[in-house]
Amino acid sequence: MTGAGQDVPWWQKAVGYQIYPRSFQDSNGDGIGDIPGIIARLDHLADLGVGFVWLSPVYASPQVDMGYDISDYRAIDPAYGTLDDMDRLIVEAGARGIRIVMDLVVNHCSDRHDWFLKAVADPSAPEHDYFIWRDPGPDGGPPTDARSVFGGPAWTLVPELGRYYFHQFAPGQPDLDWQNPDLRAAIHEMMNWWLDRGIGGFRLDVIDLIGKDPDASVFAEGPDLHPFLREMHDAAFRGRDTLTVGETWSVTPETALLYCGRDRDELDMVFQFEHVTAFHHPERGKWDPLPFDLPVFKRALFLWQEALRDDGWNALFLSNHDLPRQVSRYGDDGEWRVRSAKALATAIHLLRGTPFVYQGEEIGMTNTRFTDPDEFRDIEAIGHWAEARARGEELEDFLTGVNANGRDNARTPMQWSDAPNGGFTTGRPWIGVNPNHAEINVAADRADPDGVVAHYRRLIGLRRDRRIVSHGQFVAHAEGHPQVMAYARELDGERLSVVVNLCAQPVSFRVPKGLEVEGESLSANVTPRTQVRGTLGLAPYEAFAVMGPGGESGPG
Ligand code: NOJ
Ligand code: CA
Repeated sequence: MTGAGQDVPWWQKAVGYQIYPRSFQDSNGDGIGDIPGIIARLDHLADLGVGFVWLSPVYASPQVDMGYDISDYRAIDPAYGTLDDMDRLIVEAGARGIRIVMDLVVNHCSDRHDWFLKAVADPSAPEHDYFIWRDPGPDGGPPTDARSVFGGPAWTLVPELGRYYFHQFAPGQPDLDWQNPDLRAAIHEMMNWWLDRGIGGFRLDVIDLIGKDPDASVFAEGPDLHPFLREMHDAAFRGRDTLTVGETWSVTPETALLYCGRDRDELDMVFQFEHVTAFHHPERGKWDPLPFDLPVFKRALFLWQEALRDDGWNALFLSNHDLPRQVSRYGDDGEWRVRSAKALATAIHLLRGTPFVYQGEEIGMTNTRFTDPDEFRDIEAIGHWAEARARGEELEDFLTGVNANGRDNARTPMQWSDAPNGGFTTGRPWIGVNPNHAEINVAADRADPDGVVAHYRRLIGLRRDRRIVSHGQFVAHAEGHPQVMAYARELDGERLSVVVNLCAQPVSFRVPKGLEVEGESLSANVTPRTQVRGTLGLAPYEAFAVMGPGGESGPG
C-alpha cells in the first residue's frame, strides 16, 4: 500500500454507500425495494459523489435473515429482480463512476440451498461434508451448549439423520464447513464468477467466524482463519483491482494487521466494532445499551487510528443495517437533528480510512418507535422477544431495548419525499415507513443548500480532492474532553484541524497547541472559521475543519 503519493488504491480516496435493497426503492409496487429501483436512484448517489456501493445481499434467499441466508449464490432473488437487472446495475453505476461491492455471505448459506438439501437427502453425497454435523450429546441433546446469535441452541437436529448441524445464526442458516477444501474451492469459483461480471469487490459477512472450531467452542478468529483468507486472496483477489472489507466483530487493534497488513495478502480493510460494543451492557448486551459517553467513543476511534497508522487501513462507519440510526444513537434526533447529523459526519469523514455511509444517513434519518411486537420484521428482535417473554420480561422493558438498538431501526424504508410511504413504494411497504417521512426526506433536504446532503457531498469531495484528508497523519487532541472531539491531520507541512462539539450545549474550548492553525475553511456546519487558536466558543453540535500551514509529520 502506498502512502501519500498519487498512486494509491482507488478505495483510499473513495467513500462507500451501503444500500439495503429491500428498503431502498421499490419499482413495481409490491412493497419491496428492488434492483430496478436502485438503478432509478443512482443519480442521487452520483451527485453525492460516492465511489462505490456496498450492496446488502440480493441473491436468491428464503429471507429468513433478509437475504443473509442464501439459497443460490448465482441467482438474484425474484423479489429484487433478475441477473440482467444486476448486470445493468453494474453498468449503469459504472457509467457514473460507482463500483458495486457485493455482500459475500459464506460463513453459512440457507437450509434451502441445494448443497444443504443434498446434504440432508444423502449423507454420502459430497455436499454432506460442506456442513458441520455432530452426534447428539450424551443426554441425547445438542452436542455442545453453544447458543445461536438469534436465540436458541446453535445446533439443530435432523431427525432423519439422527445428527445435529451447526448454525451460529438461525437454523435456516447452516454454517459451512471451511475445513473442507471442496467447499472452499466452490466458494472461490463463485467469487470469481461474480468478479468476472465486473463487480468492484466484496464486503465479507462475519468473515472472522470461518476458521471456527465448534468442538473447542472457538468461533471467532479460529486457528484456520488467516490461512483460509490467504488462500481466498490467491484464488480470487490477486491481480484484481477490487475492494475487500471484512465484517469482524472480534477484531482487536492487536489482530487487525493479520487481516489487512500490507504483507498479508488477505483483505484491504476490516470493520471493527469497538465504538459500538463499548455501549453494550456487559451482561445484557445490546438490549440494554449504556448511555453515550464521548471520551469512551473517542478512545475507541482514536485507538484504531493509532493502531493502523503505518500499516493497514480503517473502514470508518457509525451506521449499517444492523445498527441504530447514528443521529439517534450518537447525536440528537430532536432539536439538533440536522446539525448533529452534520457534526457526526464531520467527525467520521475527516479521519484516516474509507468512510461508509448507510442509506438515509445522508439526510439524517432517525430511529423509529416500535410499540407492538407485530411491527418487528427482524428475526433477531422476534427471537429475542420470544426468549424474553418466556423469561417473563415485560413488553415495555423489551421495547426500550429494541427501540434503542433493534436492527429494524435501520431497515425502515428510505424516505425520498413527503409522498405516501415517503416515495419508497406505491404499494404496502414490507416494514412500516417512519412517520417522520413527511418532514425528513431527500427532496426536502436537497431543497436546502445547507441541508445534510450538501454537507456529505462536500465531505466526500474533500476525500477525493485533498490528499491531507485521504492520507494525512492522524494526531489526537483533547482526548479526555467530555464534550469536544478534536484531531488534526498532517501532511507535507500542512495541518487540517477538526473540531466537533458533540453536545447539545455550547462549550468554550481551549485549543491545544498542536491543533492551532490559520487558513482555509474546509467544512463547517454553523459558520465558516479560518482560525483555530485561543479559546473558542462552540455552538451546540458545531463542527468545523480548517487547513493551513503547520504540522511536522512527513507523508502518511
Ligand atoms: C452480519 C450481517 O450484517 C447481519 O445482518 C446478519 O444477520 C449476520 N451477519 C448473519 O449473516
Ligand atoms: Ca419491488
